Amino acid sequence: MKKHKILQERRPNLLVGFTAVVCAILAVVVIISGVVVLSVYLAYRPKMPYVTVRDTHLDVLSFDTSGQLGVRITINMEAHNDNTKAAASLSDIGFELQFAQVPIAYLQADPFDVVKNSTYPLPYVVESSTVPLDPPRIDKMDRALKQGKVEFSLRGEARTRWRVGVFLSVRFWTHLDCNLRYFYPNGSSIDLDCTSKSH
Ligand SMILES: *[C@@H]1O[C@H](CO)[C@@H](O)[C@H](O)[C@H]1NC(C)=O
Ligand SMILES: *[C@@H]1O[C@H](CO)[C@@H](O)[C@H](O)[C@H]1NC(C)=O
Repeated sequence: MKKHKILQERRPNLLVGFTAVVCAILAVVVIISGVVVLSVYLAYRPKMPYVTVRDTHLDVLSFDTSGQLGVRITINMEAHNDNTKAAASLSDIGFELQFAQVPIAYLQADPFDVVKNSTYPLPYVVESSTVPLDPPRIDKMDRALKQGKVEFSLRGEARTRWRVGVFLSVRFWTHLDCNLRYFYPNGSSIDLDCTSKSH
């Protein structure tokens, strides 16, 4: 009676033992990969790549009293990789140029790599089709032109990650949200400060 009971209990024990060994091996593998990834990270301390507007100019602005707005704006952007040991890549790049929340144009780029310690130029000449504005925005544009300063905003994001040898980081979003101000009519930019942030 007793022997029989013991035999019955042994089978599940074997299975439990086997599962425990597999789990232990898995745990060791996970810990070792964690340590390797952490040491690579600590050894290289990669900085997040970012996108910035290097310079910009309002080339053409056409606006009539019926509220039809058309612009051509040169926006020279740059992707920065300040890492001296890690390459970076950017993808899903898309920025929207707006006037008072109205979309004017969309800026896109194909995925690309930025080699270590360098920048990658993203030059745009944004030419909008004619965008109709509503009365409050017509007023806003009127006032801006009379004051000789006009403001657009540039919003959007890109996905970025760095690479050291065979190690790839997960992808992070880097967000751009800034105002581009120009003197009117000469179109020079005012206090340009437009750099993306990762979080
Ligand atoms: C990184 O680039 C800067 C400017 O191009 C250069 O002065 C510097 O020596 C470079 N650093 C390394 C580690 O390559
Ligand atoms: C554009 O106009 C503004 C204001 O009139 C002036 O301060 C600025 O120097 C001008 N820029 C150029 C490049 O002439």
